[in-house]
Amino acid sequence: MWWDSRYPALWSAAPGAGSPTSAHGNHPGTAGGHTARDITTFQVDPAHPADVRVELEARTSELHHPSGRSFRGYTLNGTSPGPEIRARRGDLVEVVLHNIDIAEGTTLHWHGINVPAAMDGVAGVTQDAVAPGEAFTYRFLAEDAGTYWYHSHQVSHQQVLAGLFGAIIIEPTKAEPVPDTVMLLHTYPGGSRTISAVGGQTHVPALPGETMRVRTINTDNLTAFLWVPGAQARLLAIDGVDLHEPGPFRDLKVRLAAGARADLEVAVPEEGAVRVQSTGVSLLIGPPGATAPETKVPDAELDLLTYGSPAPATFDTTTPDHHFDYIIGQRIGFLDGRPGYWWTINGRMGRHVPMYVVREGEVVAMHIRNRSVEAHPMHLHGHHVLVTARDGVPATGSPWWTDSLDVDPGESYDIVFLADNPGVWMDHCHNLPHAVEGLMTHVSYEGVTTSFLLGHDSGNAPE
Ligand code: C2O
Ligand code: CU
Repeated sequence: MWWDSRYPALWSAAPGAGSPTSAHGNHPGTAGGHTARDITTFQVDPAHPADVRVELEARTSELHHPSGRSFRGYTLNGTSPGPEIRARRGDLVEVVLHNIDIAEGTTLHWHGINVPAAMDGVAGVTQDAVAPGEAFTYRFLAEDAGTYWYHSHQVSHQQVLAGLFGAIIIEPTKAEPVPDTVMLLHTYPGGSRTISAVGGQTHVPALPGETMRVRTINTDNLTAFLWVPGAQARLLAIDGVDLHEPGPFRDLKVRLAAGARADLEVAVPEEGAVRVQSTGVSLLIGPPGATAPETKVPDAELDLLTYGSPAPATFDTTTPDHHFDYIIGQRIGFLDGRPGYWWTINGRMGRHVPMYVVREGEVVAMHIRNRSVEAHPMHLHGHHVLVTARDGVPATGSPWWTDSLDVDPGESYDIVFLADNPGVWMDHCHNLPHAVEGLMTHVSYEGVTTSFLLGHDSGNAPE
């Protein structure tokens, strides 16, 4: 078992490419055959000029907690979080990543944006990690307005924690009726919760009576909760997708899975301010000097299974071409030669976990079940998935599109998605240490191959 669990020094994530991962789709992997198209060919027209262009310099740096204590971290253009990137829907976004001095290399992944496969930023799958002194150019169309974030996908469990991330906002084509503000939650190594590296309360100036869209982003490994003490709010969007007819609520907490985003709408009262709170931090929105109460986290949670009102789906979800199981468990065994208590997918570990093979245009249903004792925020790259049921209870609220879905211990979710973005896409737990411990696989399109390699000798380690 020990011998069998070891990874080769070099291996490929492509199905049928002699990878250590066996394909368990309905079709045999043909990606190694002559019809296969290389993942690097999935990109936007190189002649298309950029509307938004950003240069980012990634480097190692001494950073400071709000308490003043310092730690070794990473910056982008001298800060962590990196610059907030803003684009309009329809813009072509071009970001040049320069690695100044990060020895193990780095990449950028556009979390929640359904970019073409070559731009996904996964070291060893869609590109090689960018070595010190080198650069990589990301180009994609900002097709869907919403709240997203970017982060390293090379040694991501360390690089994201220590600062290699930032917010990217795609604004609607028409100016929004209400102003917005970003609430970027992160806990740096050995520190406490921050909003854009600031601890405690952050003041956002706004006028009495003004309405504000608060774009919250959870860049941590654990679930966050948000609440609005003593005032009414609406949840406008989850994971970058607007909800249908979201109604007002109060005294409820809103769940924000690791990697997830939630856009809250709040109004500044005529007297005082309004607060969006999370554990240890809050945004205080209102005129200078005005204040709002702080409370403990409400017991009751806003349930997205019933929130808002239904709307027709954008594709036929009733007759899927595949029904896949993604059953999460835990077992004693060997992972790459190391003994431990490792995560399993469908009872298998490490190189034996299933890869899900699909064809372009197919409708894919997946049953995700958590048979372990910890929560798993499940993240499929390159797609949004529609929640159809939780624990067998059908969704009856607004269409709930997600890319970062918390599956609590004992829970199961049924989801469905349209395979409309060919590539080799990671499908993993966004509690990033869990991905290191084996909770990671791929959704691969038949006929797509990658020549990038994983393994000890490759220099690529996406987890
Ligand atoms: Cu936020 Cu695989 O990533
Ligand atoms: Cu997990």
